[in-house]
Amino acid sequence: MSYPFQIKTKEQYDRAYKKSVEDPEGFWGEVAGSFYWRKRWDKVLDWNFKDPDIKWFRGGKMNITENCLDRHLGTMGNKPAIIWESNDPEEHHRILTYRDLHHKVVQFANVLKNNGVKKGDRVCIYMGMVPELAVSVLACARIGAVHSVIFGGFSAQSIADRLQDAQAEFIITCDGAYRGNKEIPLKSVIDDALVQCRFVKKVIVVTLTRMPVSMIKGRDVWWEDEIKKVETMGNPDCPAEEMDAEDPLFILYTSGSTGKPKGVVHTCAGYMVYTTYSFVNVFQYTPGDIHFCTADIGWITGHSYIAYGPLCAGATTVLFEGVPTWPDAGRFWDIVDKYKVNVLYTAPTAIRSLMSYGLGPVQSHDLSSLKVLGSVGEPINEEAWHWLNENIGKGNCPVVDTWWQTETGGIMISNLAGVTPSKPSFATLPLPGIQPILVDETGKEIEGNNVSGNLCIKFPWPSIIRTTYGDHERCRTNYFAAYPNLYFTGDGCMRDENGFYRITGRVDDVLNVSGHRIGTAEVENAINMHAGVIESAVVGYPHDIKGQGIYAYVIYGSTHGDENLTRQDIAQTVARIIGAIAKPDKIQFVTGLPKTRSGKIMRRILRKIAEGETENLGDTSTLLDPGVVEEIKNGKI
Ligand code: WT7
Repeated sequence: MSYPFQIKTKEQYDRAYKKSVEDPEGFWGEVAGSFYWRKRWDKVLDWNFKDPDIKWFRGGKMNITENCLDRHLGTMGNKPAIIWESNDPEEHHRILTYRDLHHKVVQFANVLKNNGVKKGDRVCIYMGMVPELAVSVLACARIGAVHSVIFGGFSAQSIADRLQDAQAEFIITCDGAYRGNKEIPLKSVIDDALVQCRFVKKVIVVTLTRMPVSMIKGRDVWWEDEIKKVETMGNPDCPAEEMDAEDPLFILYTSGSTGKPKGVVHTCAGYMVYTTYSFVNVFQYTPGDIHFCTADIGWITGHSYIAYGPLCAGATTVLFEGVPTWPDAGRFWDIVDKYKVNVLYTAPTAIRSLMSYGLGPVQSHDLSSLKVLGSVGEPINEEAWHWLNENIGKGNCPVVDTWWQTETGGIMISNLAGVTPSKPSFATLPLPGIQPILVDETGKEIEGNNVSGNLCIKFPWPSIIRTTYGDHERCRTNYFAAYPNLYFTGDGCMRDENGFYRITGRVDDVLNVSGHRIGTAEVENAINMHAGVIESAVVGYPHDIKGQGIYAYVIYGSTHGDENLTRQDIAQTVARIIGAIAKPDKIQFVTGLPKTRSGKIMRRILRKIAEGETENLGDTSTLLDPGVVEEIKNGKI
């Protein structure tokens, strides 16, 4: 395979960037031309950010799995598509060639059809990081069903909320999952969720841990039994459903500053074009490279850079079931050594956690296969950047700091490995096709360099969010209403003297905990579910490993008994309502919260106190009761 859109020099980057701004339709039409289409598009782009209404490659017909799989069979059928490393390093790993993967996807696509799944139906996937997860995702895409993967750490309540929102009638799960020394009872969590979701028709269950599960007659079936049925059916093929370029491909839920998580909708063609384009350019993919992205497919990073991007490009992608610190903190380096990994794409929180174990676990492995290192999910601090560069890359591997979001579908601002310059803790320059701008509070563009502002994008790119499932108005107000004719990212950003971008973090009430997005309102709602809680306010504070930790101020009714036990009960309540990732790190009991006369909580003050900056709290004169600030300051934990 060749990638005519691959940018290999800084001059090519400059030229491509210029062309992408002056003639976006010409630029993207050329990129899209190297994919397999059943029918070419009539028009590259129709758009307005007002509604918003964005259509890429109008009239084009295709199926992303023909680009991920079928297209490669002729020349690369025997090449590994997925290398699966199990949680337990002693267990056998599995390698699926493109032919194997195609076969499994086609087989399971037939299973889905047999179970009544049709084009446009929503299918929820709740699994650990096993090959069947990738097979499930691709099988949905094969028949035009809309997948919605839910990360295996979310609670039954979170699953139920998402199932209801998406009106998903089908679920694919496993009996259980292994993660480090834990066994997670996935099917049992699904059963709890389904008590509230009677509309679910079928649950397909993969046998993995063989932990006991309850299988409900008529609703629950085993994956292996269903595969056997299609094997005896004769015709093993499953021609890909012809999809319109703008048909939905998947829904992925993500947290915002208000309300419940929203279902970000991505569509078939634009997402395919942009994830492949960005994969090839940012990581400078060369045929034969082994790509190891350590994310979970439950997040957008896994969708775009474990599954779709690498597979469309014909790369070999590593799927790792376990965690970086089990059985020891050398696990990533072991995998790099074992499979001769060329590209390692991971998160600052993982790097910081591994740094704390010292260099011992690194030195015992041969990392010489590495060519490119990548970071994603949150701002990378300089210390972690240098540690990665020196101790993992040995100063020889470009480090790409990739800024993007669930809503952007693919990497937006990043250096291109070895092609454009890098700068520690800077995402640097936008990819060709991406037009960032900084604006002030009033929406006025902040021009020039050495400036800071709110990061917006002023022109569409192919994998931009199309809608939030079932509620288009929410999409408009969240992203397109703050500043007219701009997509608002929710991030603050500075641009240095060279025009390099540095993302400084969210400017809304969204936390970034270990690279995971969590809404403060969501955590507060969960805390308030606890019987003794009267009111709460949640803010983020700097955390050495997680980037941000969760600090909760809680007004508690009758403080009978042990405060620490109450804290544990509250944390348990949050884990039950959302999932363990949203548990507060610190809980401070208070008798009041700083509120304005109109009843709004002044988070600015709470944030400062949580950060330990109790000296300079700014103007507190508009507070209803300035006295509570003193109390909160004195009680800080
Ligand atoms: C938010 C998006 C898609 C990546 C995984 C997270 C923050 C992401 C960076 C980076 C600084 C970053 C932003 C963004 N973020 N990458 N390289 N430097 N901040 O996806 O859950 O949709 O979160 O993560 O704040 O808005 P997500």
